Amino acid sequence: MKSLKILSTGSYLPPHIITNDEFSKTLDTDDKWITSRTGIESRHFATDETNTDMAIKAAQAAFSKAAINKEDICCVIVATFTPDDFTPAIGCEVHNALNLPPNIMSFDINAACSGFIYAMEVAEGLLLQHPEKYALVIGSEKISNFLDFTDRTTCVLFGDGAGAAIMGLQNGKSCYTMGTRASRSALYCPSIANPKLAMNGKEVFKFAVEVIPQSIEEILAKAHLNIDEIDHIVCHQANLRIISHVYKKMAIEPSKFFVNLNHCGNTSGASIPLALDEMNQKALLKKGDKIICVGFGAGLTWGATLITW
Ligand code: ACO
Repeated sequence: MKSLKILSTGSYLPPHIITNDEFSKTLDTDDKWITSRTGIESRHFATDETNTDMAIKAAQAAFSKAAINKEDICCVIVATFTPDDFTPAIGCEVHNALNLPPNIMSFDINAACSGFIYAMEVAEGLLLQHPEKYALVIGSEKISNFLDFTDRTTCVLFGDGAGAAIMGLQNGKSCYTMGTRASRSALYCPSIANPKLAMNGKEVFKFAVEVIPQSIEEILAKAHLNIDEIDHIVCHQANLRIISHVYKKMAIEPSKFFVNLNHCGNTSGASIPLALDEMNQKALLKKGDKIICVGFGAGLTWGATLITW
């Protein structure tokens, strides 16, 4: 039995920081409303960088720490719902920028905020065909390109950034749970000129607090573990009220839940790898730590997995 191991992580957050107070200059909103409803205090917006630029920077950071050769990589997978172009895929641009060998699959997947978990399972499937190789898995979003800055109910929630990991296989049981429930109304971004993200916040909230506990329970059952044996839970960083609702409902120690949405906002497919890299850089992760990652978002989609660090 094989499961994914993470060799290294990397990330990129654009230097341009937007505080909640910035929004008050143009919108009928304030720091108190945003912080109390979401936990978000600031976020990064890419001004000069494209989504591709951020994905490349995160990938280079992860690759430089992995101590492997370019020939050891068998695939590049980018989770994103905010590509710069329909084609080429950001994965192909990353492949080119890192000067990777040609005999490699490079592509993007779109499962919105669940994207990085979906990409991990796809990477694991590909690595089973090439067990001696490694996968470069990236979550990267430039959501600021798709925000309606006159809509206070959505534009204050999101941020830009990219996270990446080099992944290989190790001995151990692989545990995933995934799901899809079609809903356009919950979260929607039309593919027409000038697309803007629209959201039904209450519908997303209800969905999230249903599928996160369900996903955690399913992972625990599949792994034959109890919650005390889990060191960290990394939820998609949408909203602190969603996370706190989950730990109250499940009676889990809040400190198990890593939170960085206060300074990143919701970065969709990038939020889980950004969180993992921040935890890694802060030396919060020890060898052998068990981490449950849970993604949920537009589609609607959800997915969770267990990582042994
Ligand atoms: N500042 C001030 N007032 C605001 C703002 C704002 N930024 N946004 C909304 N309001 C107002 C509304 O207009 C409304 O005013 P009204 O009563 O005069 O009509 C009032 O606040 C209450 O609005 P609600 O939508 O009922 O606010 P709610 O308490 O539900 O909070 C929120 C909104 C934070 C979006 C909540 O629904 C939520 O947490 N939903 C989850 C959505 C989420 O996290 N989405 C992330 C993207 S999806 C994903 O990543 C999976």
